[in-house]
Amino acid sequence: MKLLTKAILLAVTTSALSSAIATASEVSQATSEKHAAAAIEYRQSLFQLLRSNMGPLGGMAKGALPFDESVMQTNAVRLEQLAEMMGDYLAVDTRGFDLETGAKDALWENFSDVKGKIAALKTAAQGLQAAVKAGDESAYRSAIGKIGASCKSCHDDYKKD
Ligand code: HEC
Repeated sequence: MKLLTKAILLAVTTSALSSAIATASEVSQATSEKHAAAAIEYRQSLFQLLRSNMGPLGGMAKGALPFDESVMQTNAVRLEQLAEMMGDYLAVDTRGFDLETGAKDALWENFSDVKGKIAALKTAAQGLQAAVKAGDESAYRSAIGKIGASCKSCHDDYKKD
């Protein structure tokens, strides 16, 4: 019984510790090619979700779609949540392996700058939520534009063409 309690305690402490490490968003090296390949797949999947939520917003900003406050609100919340995850998914340094990726090496050399760009995306996503809450249609286009600018700012520095 005592041993079991110890084992449970250990498991709880270990998982608390590893989640603390995971949320710190500090660069860590991929430990094997398999690990690196998975990390690339996960981060690209995260970006695909960003694209899928950004697409309709871009269409609205361009006037190709009518402004839809419910879609704007939902997608802006999702973009904020995806931004929350981005640091952890980008933190795995895959440079040690010869794998196909759109990420530039500089990403892991300037990770505090990368975190700043992630924070800018989060702020921009919150800005769109605020505009929707205020019902201020005149602010929608520029709020969406700020999100797009935050994507571009990171791509300009850290994504290969
Ligand atoms: C903090 C930096 C950063 C921000 C912010 C960012 N991206 Fe990216 N994005 C990247 C990097 C780095 C890659 C390359 C990932 C790879 O191939 O490993 C990428 C790749 C992508 C891809 C290609 C994914 C694939 O399947 O290869 C899409 C689409 C994308 N980003 C969309 C977006 C959109 C939309 C936004 C804003 C809502 C955004 N990104 C914000 C850094 C960023």
